[in-house]
Amino acid sequence: MSSELVRFSVAMPEELLMSFDAFVARRGLAKNRSEVVRDLVRDALIQDDAGLPGTEVMGTLTIVFNHHASDVQEKLHTIQHAHYGMIVSTTHVHLDEDNCLEVIILCGETTDVHDIADHILGTKGVKNGGLVITTTGQML
Ligand code: NI
Repeated sequence: MSSELVRFSVAMPEELLMSFDAFVARRGLAKNRSEVVRDLVRDALIQDDAGLPGTEVMGTLTIVFNHHASDVQEKLHTIQHAHYGMIVSTTHVHLDEDNCLEVIILCGETTDVHDIADHILGTKGVKNGGLVITTTGQML
């Protein structure tokens, strides 16, 4: 992929642009509008299941669940053992008497990481959570 920069123009409502400029300012002096747009586009492509097919990524999946709910812990354990080659680390925090937080770090092809995350997030008893993807991908 060429690293040559290509200019294009974007139209947006003035209020949205003002909010964006404030967002750019919060990123600090090292970033201008163009650099922040590039960061946002990269992040959108990285987070998208189909954005960068075949790319090796790292995923950080955070979930919260009630450990009393059905056999959720056993199910989560089984899923992670079924994919042990892609599970780098799991951290478990006991939030209170009932609820647990787990941060599961995954490594693998982007579609596989999304599939495992969706399986875990879709497990009965998991209350909420989310996947954040990152990569050192050369194409970006
Ligand atoms: Ni716990």
